[in-house]
Amino acid sequence: MRSLPIRVRLTLWYSLAIAATLFIIGLVSLWMVHRAINNLEKNELQERVRGVRRFIESRPAGETLAELHEAITAAYNASHGNKWLQVIDEQGNWIYRSPHVAAVYPELVLPRQAPQQGYYFTYTAESFSVRALIAPIAVHGVHYTVQTGLTLNKTLAILSNLRIHLFLLITVGLLVSSIAGHFMSRKALRPVAALAAEARRINDRHLDIRLPVASARDEISDLSQTLNQMLERIDKAFASVRTFTGNASHELRTPISLLRTEIEVALIRPREATEYRAVLERLHGETVRMTSLVENLLSLARADGGAETIARAPIRVADLFQQVAASWKSAMEAALLDFHVETPASGLALLGDRQLIARLLSILLENASKYTPAGGSVKLHSAISGTRIVISVEDTGVGIAPEHRERIFERFYRIAPAGEPAPAGFGLGLSLAKWIAGRHGTELAVESEPGGGSRFSFRLERSLEKTEVAM
Ligand SMILES: Nc1ncnc2c1ncn2[C@@H]1O[C@H](COP(=O)(O)OP(=O)(O)OP(=O)(O)O)[C@@H](O)[C@H]1O
Ligand SMILES: [Mg+2]
Repeated sequence: MRSLPIRVRLTLWYSLAIAATLFIIGLVSLWMVHRAINNLEKNELQERVRGVRRFIESRPAGETLAELHEAITAAYNASHGNKWLQVIDEQGNWIYRSPHVAAVYPELVLPRQAPQQGYYFTYTAESFSVRALIAPIAVHGVHYTVQTGLTLNKTLAILSNLRIHLFLLITVGLLVSSIAGHFMSRKALRPVAALAAEARRINDRHLDIRLPVASARDEISDLSQTLNQMLERIDKAFASVRTFTGNASHELRTPISLLRTEIEVALIRPREATEYRAVLERLHGETVRMTSLVENLLSLARADGGAETIARAPIRVADLFQQVAASWKSAMEAALLDFHVETPASGLALLGDRQLIARLLSILLENASKYTPAGGSVKLHSAISGTRIVISVEDTGVGIAPEHRERIFERFYRIAPAGEPAPAGFGLGLSLAKWIAGRHGTELAVESEPGGGSRFSFRLERSLEKTEVAM
């Protein structure tokens, strides 16, 4: 059953359900007809008994047995001669016996007394069956027993006819409903086949194809809408991967062709050692930039692939600040910036991945140093906020206009300053910083005014452990 197509399975289940329903309806109608006929027969038999009583009651009180016998025979032979009817008194004397009983069943002996409520039974012989009632009656203090019966041959014929007709009707009904079920399931599943055919056309080069959505609001249109939404997301993800790869190769090609030109020019003719040294220093600077680009690209690729794991541990904030400050001190001095690190309380610790948080701070400090003109200041700060610690990097630099504020976190997004050339960079730092914050369950917030400096901040869980924290 499992390997059959849904269409066939649906038809089979449907036919099975219809067959069960038709069978039950057939059984119930048979039973109801049977009961109705039974009641009719009982009424008829009881009416005959009542008729006998009324007849005997209408007779004069002093009448002898023989006179009664004669009167009833005269009256009943005409109307009941061919029916099953016999009456006996308490002494076993026949009051009446229809010629039919006497002829068909002469040896039939009646009990002289019958149960008060009457007694029904069915008698079956070779060629006939009789439904009979034996009932007592008492008239003028004399007790009689009446036996009467109905030949069941007609009833049995009606029931057997009904059975055959019902069987035929059920078979035809089942056949018709199975065929209808088959067509209905085919019709219902046709949109699924259409969806499958359309879906087969979709591949990485044709991600813009969308599945047809039926106008009716049903499960199939729901399914195609959900699949279309999924395709939309996949399409977007593919597009962003394509842009990322395109941008990355573009960014790598520029420094590589620069290196090549520089080397080719240097090799045109023999040069002095000092000239070679100058060329090599420039090449070194370029490779350092390329290394940082490749590292950032790799980190983002790993982040996308979910391969970058984070190991959260308690980190003493003072140690973290000291480490980051030490590596940025000379760069800040070179950029003529006032670098201020607020020393946090010595016991203050946060929960995070030490390397990643240090990288995040480096990205923010690098930006602060790049985008703050000489003479400005950069501040690294921490503050307690409930169970969290807010860490911020604040500068008095060029600031960020509102229209760029959301976009600076996008990969390769850079703001082109009017007039002067932009500081070196690829536009990857903040997207990496945003990812690191995200992995720590927090957000990287930015407050900035063009010309009024910027403040980047994020909140991390505070570690309340008293134990020795990681360095
Ligand atoms: N502190 C800041 N002050 C002013 N503008 C900033 C600051 N930080 C970032 N920006 C703007 O946001 C852009 C994106 O920053 P991001 O760090 O992602 O890239 P980048 O610094 O240009 O290059 P990379 O970090 O890859 O070397 C920057 O080009 C810059 O215009
Ligand atoms: Mg940067």
